[in-house]
Amino acid sequence: MAKQNIELIVNGDRYQVAVDPWRTLAEVLREELNLTGTKVGCNQGDCGACTVIMDGRSISSCLTLAVEAHQRQITTIEGLAPSRTELHPIQEAFVEAQAVQCGFCTSGMIMSAKDLLDHNPHPTEAEIRAGLSGNLCRCTGYVKIVEAIDLAAKKLDPAGAKEA
Ligand code: FES
Ligand code: FES
Repeated sequence: MAKQNIELIVNGDRYQVAVDPWRTLAEVLREELNLTGTKVGCNQGDCGACTVIMDGRSISSCLTLAVEAHQRQITTIEGLAPSRTELHPIQEAFVEAQAVQCGFCTSGMIMSAKDLLDHNPHPTEAEIRAGLSGNLCRCTGYVKIVEAIDLAAKKLDPAGAKEA
């Protein structure tokens, strides 16, 4: 089957790529665009390591064909930090809460956290755990990740956190 020409809009940059119709978004991000911050663990929708944001919602990029992402707005972990010398508040919180061990799950965790906090700026612990239910971590036991997301919520909206 012939390759298809698609346009991917990733972290605000436009890329024209010719892709086989069966290639996943995760493969194309990593292998064609060299955006290797998005990880592939299970490659079947179970682990969440490949989570990216597409049109404002988190998706598993291993379950999404690259052609489905044609002209959609995609954000990967590389697009979160405001500059090369600053971290996004969620990234800062993961560092401060020591929520990273091997780091393989971390990109996906942070992208799921971004989706959660974009839609629910002051989640309860139960809501944080539900928001992470599609992301597996083999190292941390999740406690520090949950703490990091709670800290990120306070960083992103300190005034709201006081009221809550
Ligand atoms: S690699 Fe996509 S969910 Fe595991
Ligand atoms: S930090 Fe190792 S899998 Fe989560």
